[in-house]
Amino acid sequence: KKKITIAIDGFSSTGKSTIAKLLAKKYNYIYVDTGAMYRAVTYFGMKSKLVNKDGFKSESLILKLKDIKLTFKFNKILGFAEMFLNNINVEKEIRTLQVSQQVSKVAAIPEVRRKLVAEQQLMGVNGGIVMDGRDIGTVVFPDADLKLFMTASADKRATRRYKELIDNGDNVNFEEVLFNVQERDRIDSTREDSPLMKAEDAIEFDNSDMGIDEQFERICTLVDSKL
Ligand code: C5P
Repeated sequence: KKKITIAIDGFSSTGKSTIAKLLAKKYNYIYVDTGAMYRAVTYFGMKSKLVNKDGFKSESLILKLKDIKLTFKFNKILGFAEMFLNNINVEKEIRTLQVSQQVSKVAAIPEVRRKLVAEQQLMGVNGGIVMDGRDIGTVVFPDADLKLFMTASADKRATRRYKELIDNGDNVNFEEVLFNVQERDRIDSTREDSPLMKAEDAIEFDNSDMGIDEQFERICTLVDSKL
């Protein structure tokens, strides 16, 4: 059977990674969470005091990019790959609200994008991959066999993200999570370099009111039609 490339883009917390993980499992594909890569670079910047609430030193961060080694290692127990920054597992650290509050600024830096996009394209050379992010169908894999674009109401998305953060032991309130979700979408959609947008040939899914099972079933039918 043909090993295809599946690109999933969309606004934050629209359930992209849930669908991507299910697809990877069913078709035995590699799943790549590109948001984790932008988050890891952001976390590196925060730790090195190059990124903070008041602004950031993009010049210094750009110079440090060559010292950032990102790797995914598959965790058999969890059933997905975890993000390693310079050989250290940062899976927990990169999911905090603090990182979410800085990541869109870092992801707007063209040099950061160039590095990560090149790495993502290398991971996809053999197909058999499902990748989620903001620019996968438009920039990383413009020739992907299947492109999905996920949306949902801001309220649904913030509720989902809030639950995840609370489950992770992050002490946040709903209002700041809602603000962050909307603020990230605003920055991601309006940045100059590869802004978040639906590729012309992407199929849109609004999952505000659709259950994950129904959605997954529909998407599998689409995948099967490409094999
Ligand atoms: O997917 P996730 O919400 O973890 O992504 C975090 C942030 O990383 C996004 O809000 C966006 O700023 C950035 N990102 C990006 N391009 C991608 C994936 C993520 O700019 N392909």
